[in-house]
Amino acid sequence: MQRILKKLFPERMKKSFQGCEGKESEQSVHLKDSISFADIGEPGPLITDVFSRLRDIPGWFTVDDCGHFFLILSYQSAVGITGDMLEIGSYFGRSTALMATCLKQGENIVVCDAFGLDTNDSYGKKPTPEELIANIECVNQGINRDRIVIHECMSNDLQLDTEERFRFIHIDGGHSAEQVYSDLNLCSKHLLAGGIMVVDDYHNDYWPDVTPGTDRFLDERNTFRVLADLNRHGSRGRKLYLIKQ
Ligand SMILES: C[S@@+](CC[C@H](N)C(=O)[O-])C[C@H]1O[C@@H](n2cnc3c(N)ncnc32)[C@H](O)[C@@H]1O
Repeated sequence: MQRILKKLFPERMKKSFQGCEGKESEQSVHLKDSISFADIGEPGPLITDVFSRLRDIPGWFTVDDCGHFFLILSYQSAVGITGDMLEIGSYFGRSTALMATCLKQGENIVVCDAFGLDTNDSYGKKPTPEELIANIECVNQGINRDRIVIHECMSNDLQLDTEERFRFIHIDGGHSAEQVYSDLNLCSKHLLAGGIMVVDDYHNDYWPDVTPGTDRFLDERNTFRVLADLNRHGSRGRKLYLIKQ
């Protein structure tokens, strides 16, 4: 039925991310961004140097996500895992900017976003590549522009070199089951062994299709296992962290 309605009224059946944010309570929106002593204790360097700047960028990346990503990316570097990072779905660069803070020498960040193109999920605002770069640069002052590689396209049209491998991938683009499954399949081929792939909005009742798309991928692949399935303050959905064996 959903599919037939979508065919007949594609615009009316689009889901809006603005609406999604409106569904959060005031308290949970506060928790997503809060750096107050009452919520997190005395802010440490990750908060004062990084999150305090990236929380002004529009997006859904929370204070908890910031800690989770930073820990994994720093751990990879500490144990000698090196490689580029990839993100599908950057919006204005809130999550991208954090990933970029963890780039080590010789590593680049690769981004795929629809930007001004028409997407199945609708957004009140559409970023431009220039705005995305400016936001990454604002958080990562002095970052060499050549280290940010932007693909302005739908993820189904993303062309990656067959040899290209990433140590960390964040999947936060289209939210249909087919799109999530397809993005996971594409990314799985380009993830290093021991690398981490993160899926946003797992078990988010506002985006219910992400879960079957992800579960289908996991059912078919025994080379991936769930490293962590994490709630985040201020968010309805969880982020699922997958490790490639
Ligand atoms: C939820 S937002 C990303 C939020 C960002 N990661 C953050 O944490 O703030 C999703 C982004 O993916 C883009 N997008 C949606 N469907 C896409 C697709 N099929 N291919 C590429 N980008 C897509 C949207 O235009 C939007 O910029």
